[in-house]
Amino acid sequence: MKATVGGKPRDIRAVWFEDGKVMMIDQRRLPAEVAVKAFSGYPDVAEAIRNMTTRGAPSIGASAAYAMCLAALEGCDLAKAAKDIKAARPTANDLFYAVDYMAAKLSGGADPIEAADGYAQMMVDKCVRIGEFGAGLIKDGMKLMTHCNAGALATVDVGTALAPMRKAKEQGKKFFVYASETRPRLQGMQLTAWELGQEGIDHAIIPDGASAYYMSKGVDMIITGADRIAANGDFANKIGTFDKAIAAKHFGIPFYVAAPISTFDFSTENGDGIVIEQRSEEEVTMIGGMRIAPEGSPALNPAFDVTPAALVTGFITEKGILKPDEIAKVNQ
Ligand code: MRU
Repeated sequence: MKATVGGKPRDIRAVWFEDGKVMMIDQRRLPAEVAVKAFSGYPDVAEAIRNMTTRGAPSIGASAAYAMCLAALEGCDLAKAAKDIKAARPTANDLFYAVDYMAAKLSGGADPIEAADGYAQMMVDKCVRIGEFGAGLIKDGMKLMTHCNAGALATVDVGTALAPMRKAKEQGKKFFVYASETRPRLQGMQLTAWELGQEGIDHAIIPDGASAYYMSKGVDMIITGADRIAANGDFANKIGTFDKAIAAKHFGIPFYVAAPISTFDFSTENGDGIVIEQRSEEEVTMIGGMRIAPEGSPALNPAFDVTPAALVTGFITEKGILKPDEIAKVNQ
């Protein structure tokens, strides 16, 4: 992705390895600044996943791969490192997929840096394919809607839900994107809108609660990412996705989910088996360090919800666009 870092335009990834350190864009600082942080121990990378310095399933996966790389370079107990890194967050399948991928590579004698760099590049290549398949769905004049951030920041580079939009823009198509703000962590407003702005894609931020209103005025297609997709096609994504899918069904709007195969969890039969991360009350009750809710009122803060496969038109993957009843075949 293109971004201005320290006053200079450069091509940058969400996470990479440089001079023995894992480098990450601190996504908590955007859009105010593109701040890059360096980490030199695997527990620090696990903490960066936990505290949301890095976010989005494929970027979490790549960060976990680099954490395993550091653990190997430092001669740590790899089984313990794998367990610690997997404990960072509970929902994104890519976290577990990446740790297992690295454990297999390292036990086969692979070079740790080459293996982790290979993992990150593999994710970017998958996103490019997702963009190519998905761009065919976008026609001139369309109004699209997305939720949370499934752009380059969330996927090392290029994006999942945003990949078809980047590609369609490259193809010269004109379209408009509604980006819902994504309370409480505001990934839609602070990350997706920032990425769309960097790409020159026409867009507007809307409150989460305005999604059905704009659908009623005319939205042609919804594309979101996913954090984990069960074997039957039920999928977890940022809280508020389920509401959009229900409203889309009501209005007859196609609802697509863009994700690489690393996000598919074929060992989980359906959405009931997906662990949903519960985050702190303060993310809901406080803004900018100030409590805005009445003292004594508790808050609930599930980070994700599960949308049933029946509400999904198709999954845009690196292997093509699959209907929910076709996803089993990618596991063969
Ligand atoms: O909790 P986060 O910020 O890690 O949220 C994850 C996401 O970015 C989204 O849920 C996204 O839509 C799917 S991952 C590309």
